[in-house]
Amino acid sequence: MSLSLEFAELAGEIAREAGELARRRRDEGVRLAATKSTLADIVTDADREVEELIRERLRVARPGDGFLGEESEADTGDTGITWVVDPIDGTVNYAYGIPAYSVSIAAVRGGTVPLEWEALAGAVFAPAMGELFTAALGHGAWRGEHRLAVTSDTPAGALLATGFGYDPTTHDGDLATVRQVMTMARDLRRGGSAALDLAYVAAGRLDGYFERGLRPWDLAAGALIVVEAGGSVTLLDAASSRPMLIAGGIDVHARLRGILEEKA
Ligand code: IPD
Repeated sequence: MSLSLEFAELAGEIAREAGELARRRRDEGVRLAATKSTLADIVTDADREVEELIRERLRVARPGDGFLGEESEADTGDTGITWVVDPIDGTVNYAYGIPAYSVSIAAVRGGTVPLEWEALAGAVFAPAMGELFTAALGHGAWRGEHRLAVTSDTPAGALLATGFGYDPTTHDGDLATVRQVMTMARDLRRGGSAALDLAYVAAGRLDGYFERGLRPWDLAAGALIVVEAGGSVTLLDAASSRPMLIAGGIDVHARLRGILEEKA
């Protein structure tokens, strides 16, 4: 079996197990807390526990590989492969009991700079919906047994998704971007999990997605899933602190890019 297929299988298995743990913890009583700091603490506990599980499974299966996760210290490893992990992407949804949260696991080679790396495999698992999205470099993208393909035709305008960072000072700029992008949209979604938004682009449930300021673990698995489903993914202003990620089918991606480049 090729390395990328082997990694996709491993990422998928671990994402499922980790997602089931996240879901169990949610059912056991992660509640919306009265204050933000309490809420953040509860969520952080679940995030950390899930990331620890993923890290341990990877350590056993792939000793020597690097690790870059949202909740723990990075390790460069010595094999040239790094696992890029978001244990719970969509933390706010998770805390509020909205099912759109996911576990995201990717294997990359050639460093940890988003999209400069070579992504070999990715898995995004949405535990509350029981859906697993995977991709292996050169072998396509899948939801369970279903092969994924991005949309190619948007006669009524594109169904787009975006997201907003946690820093309120960035909201005005992001809303101005939304205003411009709406010229090509039939409607806009704000799902709350970037990894899942990307998986949905791959699955043809969204025509396109854009967001500024994502971290490597938010996009590593999802970006490969889009590309393996026949789509395109670009980071504009890659050197800035808030690069703009654009994903979509070839045509929607090009139109989004045209609008967003003009704006930059
Ligand atoms: C967040 C989600 C959200 C996106 C934010 C991310 P987190 O990740 O992906 O959709 O809009 O920019 O930070 O914090 O829930 O892992």
